[in-house]
Amino acid sequence: MLKGKIAIVTGAGRGIGQAIALALAEQGAEIVLSDISVDFLKDTEAQIKALGKSGCLLTQANVTIGDEVNEVVKKALDTYGKVDILVNNAGITRDNLMAMMAEKDWDDVLSTNLKSVFLMTKACSRTMVKQRFGSIVNIASVVGIMGNAGQANYSASKAGVIAFTKTTAKELAKRNIRANAIAPGFIRTPMTDKLSAEQKQKIQEWIPLGRMGEPKEIADVAVFLASDASRYVTGQVIVVDGGLLM
Ligand SMILES: NC(=O)c1ccc[n+]([C@@H]2O[C@H](COP(=O)([O-])OP(=O)(O)OC[C@H]3O[C@@H](n4cnc5c(N)ncnc54)[C@H](O)[C@@H]3O)[C@@H](O)[C@H]2O)c1
Repeated sequence: MLKGKIAIVTGAGRGIGQAIALALAEQGAEIVLSDISVDFLKDTEAQIKALGKSGCLLTQANVTIGDEVNEVVKKALDTYGKVDILVNNAGITRDNLMAMMAEKDWDDVLSTNLKSVFLMTKACSRTMVKQRFGSIVNIASVVGIMGNAGQANYSASKAGVIAFTKTTAKELAKRNIRANAIAPGFIRTPMTDKLSAEQKQKIQEWIPLGRMGEPKEIADVAVFLASDASRYVTGQVIVVDGGLLM
């Protein structure tokens, strides 16, 4: 389905980003793995090799720093000559009630979750415009639509990702570049492992399908959005949350 395509995935070292990288590789894409942690990247690389692929490109980078982001795209172009798919997945939480939230926690979450999407999209758009082809998949969150007490910084960053996705979809559509977002609900990853057993129990009771999601369940939608199966879909937010938001 994705043979011959080159994909950059940020935050590809674990969790949802790792699952997306593996799913794209399974469909035949060549993957540029990017993460701030080299150890995490090596783990994903080993899993990609276990799929029988000869390898992938590892790029350690902090997505909040423009020069590092530009270097990721440069390495991808030096190695593969093009970038067809960009998955902006790297993200963090620094939860607290708004009145208690430290300014640094606001800044860190906004730059990791939102500024990064601007930096990476801008860097990839140059080559995608030249190619007249691209699919950008941004990982937002249901809380970017519904808000969540204790996550003013995170929910604002994800609402920003959704608005940014629609704007880039409008700006780049004429060049045959699509941009869509996925809004996951609660997914089992190291990010949500931090929740207490009691919090997880409560969350499960809110979810109509009665359980948290798996990273692969986000990855399957990312493959659809990255591929030509979604060639007439752009500017959309696909909610993948077991029915939480309906
Ligand atoms: N897990 C969920 O329930 C859930 C729900 C909605 C949205 N999301 C979103 O999905 C994405 C992935 O979440 P996850 O649960 O897999 O998280 P995770 O913490 O398991 O993985 C995040 C990855 O991003 C990397 N990363 C963090 N900061 C970085 C930086 N500055 N530069 C480069 N890489 C960095 C980490 O090293 C890690 O590998 C995030 O954008 C998150 O907001 C997650």
